[in-house]
Amino acid sequence: MRTTILDLQKMKRAGQKIPMLTAYDAPSAHWVEAAGIPAILVGDTLGMVVQGHETTLPVTLDEMIYHTRAVMRGTQRALVIIDLPFMTYQVSIEQALTNAGRAFQESGAGAVKLEGGAAMAPTIARLTGIGIPVMAHIGMTPQSVHQFGGFRLQGRSEAAAAQLITDALAVEAAGAFAVVLELIPTPVAKQITAQLSIPTIGIGAGPDCDGQVQVFHDTLGLFEAFTPRHAKQYAALGEAIRAAVQTYIGEVQGGQFPDAAHSFGVEPK
Ligand code: KIV
Repeated sequence: MRTTILDLQKMKRAGQKIPMLTAYDAPSAHWVEAAGIPAILVGDTLGMVVQGHETTLPVTLDEMIYHTRAVMRGTQRALVIIDLPFMTYQVSIEQALTNAGRAFQESGAGAVKLEGGAAMAPTIARLTGIGIPVMAHIGMTPQSVHQFGGFRLQGRSEAAAAQLITDALAVEAAGAFAVVLELIPTPVAKQITAQLSIPTIGIGAGPDCDGQVQVFHDTLGLFEAFTPRHAKQYAALGEAIRAAVQTYIGEVQGGQFPDAAHSFGVEPK
């Protein structure tokens, strides 16, 4: 049985922090789940950390479904959440229903995530109304990176902080089961977390959120191009890969690999 949205809400009520990570393929999702992560986000950050784009904007719905199906195959217990990519849900509620329905049905994920606050509340209400659990995402929403003029902290002024609180309350009232708070000041995230009964999942939003989500490649030292200030590297897998591959190259060039243990003879007569 996979983690459910109710399990995450129970964790908030019990004061138990919710650790989340992104994953984009079967083996990484397997290891993330094996470590004990209860919920995995297949984020459209895959556009940056997997596909090599500068933003998440080029990611398509088909690509999200492809990666999420791989994550589903690599896991048995985690709640898997599929991100809806740019321009697949903003045009109209009907468009959101069609595309979220496709994402949910074809990927097998347990929930979808979309970016936006009060403006997306009617869409969230319709999606949850037909049985598709929705995780909302407010603050620095990466699909609006050009509107923000970069990946910048949001909610710094009193008015902007008040708008974030309005947004958080609106997505909760619309039926979102949780909300991601990205790149907002710690005191604002703390206030939102205290006001909501659904879990807040922070990324660059300080320690008072009910849970944290981080990008797999940032957390494990696999993304060299850029490390956001909020990301802590728990391993240097990129360096480990480089060292292992250098050893492999040396052994192939030096004739040590393959040795007898990794080669095959003929069957004795
Ligand atoms: O796409 C993503 O990975 C995300 C997280 C950074 C929250 O939205």
